[in-house]
Amino acid sequence: MCGICCVVSLSPRSCVLADRVRTNLISRGPDHSQDVTKTVMKPDFKCLFSAHVLHMKGSLTPQPLQDSAGNLLLWNGEIFGGLEVGPEENDTIVILQHLSVQEDSTGICRVFSRVRGPWAFVYYEVAKHCIWFGRDYFGRRSLLWHSDPEVVILTLTSVASCPSTSEQSQWHEVPAAGIYRLDLNDCAQSKGLIIEVFPWVNSEDHPSVHTPDYTWEDLPAYATVMPNLSGVFLQSPVCPMNMSTSAPERHLGHVQSPQLSLENLEELLMQSEKVERVKQLIEVLSEAVRRRVQSLPCSRPFTDQSGTNDEADIAVLFSGGIDSMILAVLADRHVPAGKSIDLLNVAFKLQEAKPQTQSSKKGKKPKTDPTDEHQGDHNLTRCFDVPDRITGRAGLLELQHLNPERQWNFVEINVTPEELQRMRQERISNLVHPLDTVLDDSIGCAVWFAARGVGMAMDRAEQKLYTSNAKVVLTGIGADEQLAGYSRHRVRFKSDGVEGLVKELAMELSRISTRNLGRDDRIIGDHGKEARFPYLDEDVVSLLNQLPVWEKADLSLPRGLGEKLLLRLAARELGLGPSAILPKRAMQFGSRIAKMENRREKASDKCKRLNTE
Ligand SMILES: *[C@@H]1O[C@H](CO)[C@@H](O)[C@H](O)[C@H]1NC(C)=O
Ligand SMILES: *[C@@H]1O[C@H](CO)[C@@H](O)[C@H](O)[C@H]1NC(C)=O
Ligand SMILES: *[C@@H]1O[C@H](CO)[C@@H](O)[C@H](O)[C@H]1NC(C)=O
Ligand SMILES: *[C@@H]1O[C@H](CO)[C@@H](O)[C@H](O)[C@H]1NC(C)=O
Repeated sequence: MCGICCVVSLSPRSCVLADRVRTNLISRGPDHSQDVTKTVMKPDFKCLFSAHVLHMKGSLTPQPLQDSAGNLLLWNGEIFGGLEVGPEENDTIVILQHLSVQEDSTGICRVFSRVRGPWAFVYYEVAKHCIWFGRDYFGRRSLLWHSDPEVVILTLTSVASCPSTSEQSQWHEVPAAGIYRLDLNDCAQSKGLIIEVFPWVNSEDHPSVHTPDYTWEDLPAYATVMPNLSGVFLQSPVCPMNMSTSAPERHLGHVQSPQLSLENLEELLMQSEKVERVKQLIEVLSEAVRRRVQSLPCSRPFTDQSGTNDEADIAVLFSGGIDSMILAVLADRHVPAGKSIDLLNVAFKLQEAKPQTQSSKKGKKPKTDPTDEHQGDHNLTRCFDVPDRITGRAGLLELQHLNPERQWNFVEINVTPEELQRMRQERISNLVHPLDTVLDDSIGCAVWFAARGVGMAMDRAEQKLYTSNAKVVLTGIGADEQLAGYSRHRVRFKSDGVEGLVKELAMELSRISTRNLGRDDRIIGDHGKEARFPYLDEDVVSLLNQLPVWEKADLSLPRGLGEKLLLRLAARELGLGPSAILPKRAMQFGSRIAKMENRREKASDKCKRLNTE
């Protein structure tokens, strides 16, 4: 993970990077910081490139990286495939080598079409005075842009900061629609910013039918974004979604009983074509996890006498639900036996119930949730026993049962209202920005505390303070979007059938960058750690996209079974027990942050708590 930033100015005014933004960039890349400025007289412009590097593996490669010709690269990404990166090589260097030999935009687009893995970048092509920038197909790395209304300046950065209340925010996420080019020759002549976009295109689409339908309203009047219609585009790294809706008759009429059991899954697994699919899914997912856990920092100091270091390099955001359980099981396959794995489990303190106010509504019985009652405060363990903590502990037992040799560190991360409020003000609101809803706030805060990894863990039968130092954090994001895990999928299925469901899934995958990924990358990156998303590996998405929807989910089956059916079957095949049939619980409810806030808000409302002043 790195923090990258580029300020382009077409006016003689200097390029400046606000201190608040710089501080946030340094949190992402604490190991090495450097600025490079380019001033060119004809055409007249000035650029500041600011890079803050987190050292992940190999020897540290400082950025901005320049070649002998003066081409310059800011790279915040990982190459998990597509381009050859030798074991001793550094991906930043490899990308720059590929880019600097390209002679035209077709060549540059071809390089980015080939990369497999998450990325955001800024590239200065010196011969043509062009600035290229963009994010990967899913938008797994954050990139924001901002243009100043007073002067002709464009700023690109991994992370920004909240404006004070008097200011209006100028920041927006760069849409993951393709890669962009700013031709500074053209801009200098027209005295405005002309940003060309080279869109992602699926194999069977012609680029002209695939012009991204963004309105680009985020930019001021002097900036124009236009698709380049010359037929230069990027090849989508995944195959298109199977929109087939003609589901065959289901042959399992008797799995209707509301009493779910693991036998239901066993029964389904007996069908031979299902077994085949399940094996395929496990295979690609396992490979996706392998690539993400084996590309690691290698220069950790050895600490104990035996010369080995069992400290965890890998952490999993862990609720004990099926998505995170599968990641943990697959990580166990690929992480060396002597290494621990950190399971990060976050809980927000349960509130004491206010019996009077709760029952004020006529005819409505007060809720009797025993964990909410007064004993909460007197028993530290109990008041953090939120739903995700309970399923997390159960999940830990399953994992210990599957591999008793492994040191699993179940990290209980307990957050009090006071700490939540303090850290939201100090850090989290800056990272969530420019997103701003109640949901962004809840998830942003929950993920921030979870990824920080400061909590309690068992050490020889004793709970001790524990800090996870793993730089790689695996998250299960993408499973619900692809395999119909959310309750809104059931709603859509009820109203519009299979056809509606397929459309909903296609829409959700296409907007995952704006809803989740940029935000989660900014949040997790703040700890100098790197978020990795195995369910959004290109091969995993391609496999799931090929399958007709009824193989991924069967929403006529009960909750806890029908949604993410294929994943549940995979969990069973991998030897998981009760966690395979846990119904989905969204993080804001599972961790009880939504309850802690205890307000009558809609998830989509603007969140006032995110205003810093
Ligand atoms: C390349 O170097 C940068 C900076 O040191 C580091 O963040 C990155 O992980 C390295 N990548 C590889 C593949 O070595
Ligand atoms: C699109 O890109 C090509 C190749 O770089 C360039 O020659 C052409 O002028 C661009 N088209 C527009 C409309 O800018
Ligand atoms: C707190 O609750 C836990 C779990 O129910 C229980 O095991 C423990 O004994 C309780 N501790 C105290 C001090 O009451
Ligand atoms: C979609 O799924 C159906 C049913 O399995 C299959 O026949 C068809 O070939 C798939 N289409 C694509 C484009 O993969």
